[in-house]
Amino acid sequence: MNVGDRHYRTIWLNGDGWSVDLIDQRWLPHDFRVVNVNTVDGIAVAIREMWVRGAPLIGVAAACGVAMRMREDASDAALDAVWEKLHATRPTAINLRWALDDMRNLLRPLPVSQRAAAAYRRAAGIADEDVEINRAIGTHGLEIIRKIAAGKKPGEPVNILTHCNAGWLATVDYGTATAPIYLAVEAGIPVHVYVDETRPRNQGAHLTAWEMAGHGIPHTLIVDNAGGHLMQHGMVDMVVVGTDRTTANGDVCNKIGTYLKALAAKDNGVPFYVALPSPTIDWTVKDGVKEIPIEERSGDEVSLVWGRDHDGAIRQVRISPDATPAGNPAFDVTPARLVTGLITERGVAQASPEGLRGLFPERARAAA
Ligand code: MRU
Repeated sequence: MNVGDRHYRTIWLNGDGWSVDLIDQRWLPHDFRVVNVNTVDGIAVAIREMWVRGAPLIGVAAACGVAMRMREDASDAALDAVWEKLHATRPTAINLRWALDDMRNLLRPLPVSQRAAAAYRRAAGIADEDVEINRAIGTHGLEIIRKIAAGKKPGEPVNILTHCNAGWLATVDYGTATAPIYLAVEAGIPVHVYVDETRPRNQGAHLTAWEMAGHGIPHTLIVDNAGGHLMQHGMVDMVVVGTDRTTANGDVCNKIGTYLKALAAKDNGVPFYVALPSPTIDWTVKDGVKEIPIEERSGDEVSLVWGRDHDGAIRQVRISPDATPAGNPAFDVTPARLVTGLITERGVAQASPEGLRGLFPERARAAA
């Protein structure tokens, strides 16, 4: 998407032809910084410390890391070691394992001398596929927004609530949950987005709000606890969120707090959609609540909050007593029964084994 008048992806190959440049998201919305990363260790830090984040982007960053390692050492041992190193960076988003498996399965049968070039080609391919998938999700999600708009008075906006950041910063471009919103705006459908701040790291306040403001999309930042109230008062027409891992039966793992939004949506008859790129489906898992590993991050993310001070400096402040311990589960699982539909690149599926199998029969078969 554009930042000012320049088009950016979130990650791209540097002019040197082998290292990568990426948007360091830790400083947004206050500072737009692009950094160069030229080692696998650097990629591992960028993923773990969330310079890059969001399931699809984590996968692409990992693929780039594999390519960098293959340039130094393309042996089987190096391939296995880089898979392990990058896989250990974040446990919940399945796109990480999907991208690492994809790279290893492609590279392993190749002669060592061809692996680096093939790895760079495939990493670029995964990035391009992500963009295409998100565009397609956008076209299917647009139809849902269009139908809701048809039931409103002319000019009245469709009010959409979203959680965390499943926007272009979470992907290579377009975003998953935001792709239908961009297309609705392009189609002239008035929309208004409620942006959950998304404690503890505030990806909604920092990133989604920045994306919406950057594209002139009407939006309002709300605290995470406000969603239920807004839904009770008819102020939300639909919820659309992203996902870090969705099971074969349609259970949706996403940023902590998503489950509470889904409960409130169910109680108030508000449709709850999940934008789901197919690499985010974990065909090996059936029960999301029992089987998906939930990342537990540092309690400092809860006790310390980043922001821009009056003097313009970006600072972190403590909001709780020094002695108070904090827990920080980073994701939760929304059971399939609370999900109205899964918006994939192949269409909108019911959140059920049949729904997902119907759209992706070959993947379901391969995993069986
Ligand atoms: O911890 P993060 O910021 O990597 O988590 C990302 C999310 O949970 C996003 O909201 C998302 O829906 C998945 S990425 C499209």
